[in-house]
Amino acid sequence: MKPISLTGIKPTGKPHIGNYLGMYRPALDLMQNYQGMYFVADYHALTTVHTPDTLRELVYEVAASWLALGLNPEEAIFFRQSDIPEIPEFTWILSCFTSKGLLNRAHAYKAAVDENLSLGRDSDEGINAGLYNYPVLMAADILLYGSDVVPVGLDQKQHIEITRDIAEAFNRTYGEVLKVPEGIIQENVMKVPGIDGQKMSKSYNNTIPIFAPENEIRKQVMRIVTDSKRPEDPKDPQDNTLFTLLSFFASPERLEEIRQLYLHGGAAYGDLKKELAELILAHFANARDHYHELMHDRGYINDVLAQGAFRARQMGQPYLAAARKATGID
Ligand code: TRP
Repeated sequence: MKPISLTGIKPTGKPHIGNYLGMYRPALDLMQNYQGMYFVADYHALTTVHTPDTLRELVYEVAASWLALGLNPEEAIFFRQSDIPEIPEFTWILSCFTSKGLLNRAHAYKAAVDENLSLGRDSDEGINAGLYNYPVLMAADILLYGSDVVPVGLDQKQHIEITRDIAEAFNRTYGEVLKVPEGIIQENVMKVPGIDGQKMSKSYNNTIPIFAPENEIRKQVMRIVTDSKRPEDPKDPQDNTLFTLLSFFASPERLEEIRQLYLHGGAAYGDLKKELAELILAHFANARDHYHELMHDRGYINDVLAQGAFRARQMGQPYLAAARKATGID
């Protein structure tokens, strides 16, 4: 059996090209050498999404996105986190091997505390224990199946380190029961700029969505922030948001042409934006069709996820049994 690559995605928003380049594509590429396990992290989403219809809809959107972007559910194990009852059980066991100080230092929790303090509020105001324990749940996701590698973006690096710390603490107590995973951190493709030049992220409201109506995608691309240089002015392609985005979708030959236009004059931002929009629409044309078909066939998505959950539970049960036995809770 191949080594296991596992990754989860929190269903909290419409997938955008930053997610695709930084997360979906590298994770799917690993299927060549690994048994891929992919899941929709709906328990994680519950730390912030408290509207049931929204959560349900987001789960379908993310599931359809994975399938549309190339996940083959015959080969990969594709499931919904909350279909695995072993996860909350394992989370509890692992939480007894997680130092509270480690969770105090987790970036997401610390950021929430810092925001409270900067607003003169009580440090823990509005912070639920789910957010605080988020890294333990994630460790359970990873350790339950004996994952070998975990492909994630740079923002998740600390979570992988915490997972390793938890596994090591457990193993120090009971011997080598849990497999300590390696993160595969996507450092370079991670830096996909949004239309304002900051990292593309839902929280900055600067994304180019993949499955939105064509007009919306074109409109977002036309909003990419540029400077006031005229077409004939020479420009620096380095650190240029439009050029960087073009570099992900243009052919190498065309990109080189564009680079020369930047350097020597002749690059008109408006025209290049139009070109970029068409490149993006062409790149995702099949995926976009497939996505809309899937969103109209939720029975199919449910079936796929149910089969995936069955396989995932079979993979996870022996690890949970070993952990229970090690602890004496058996
Ligand atoms: N926390 C991850 C994110 O926000 C999602 C996630 C949950 C995950 N469990 C995981 C990623 C396990 C990798 C492995 O993107």
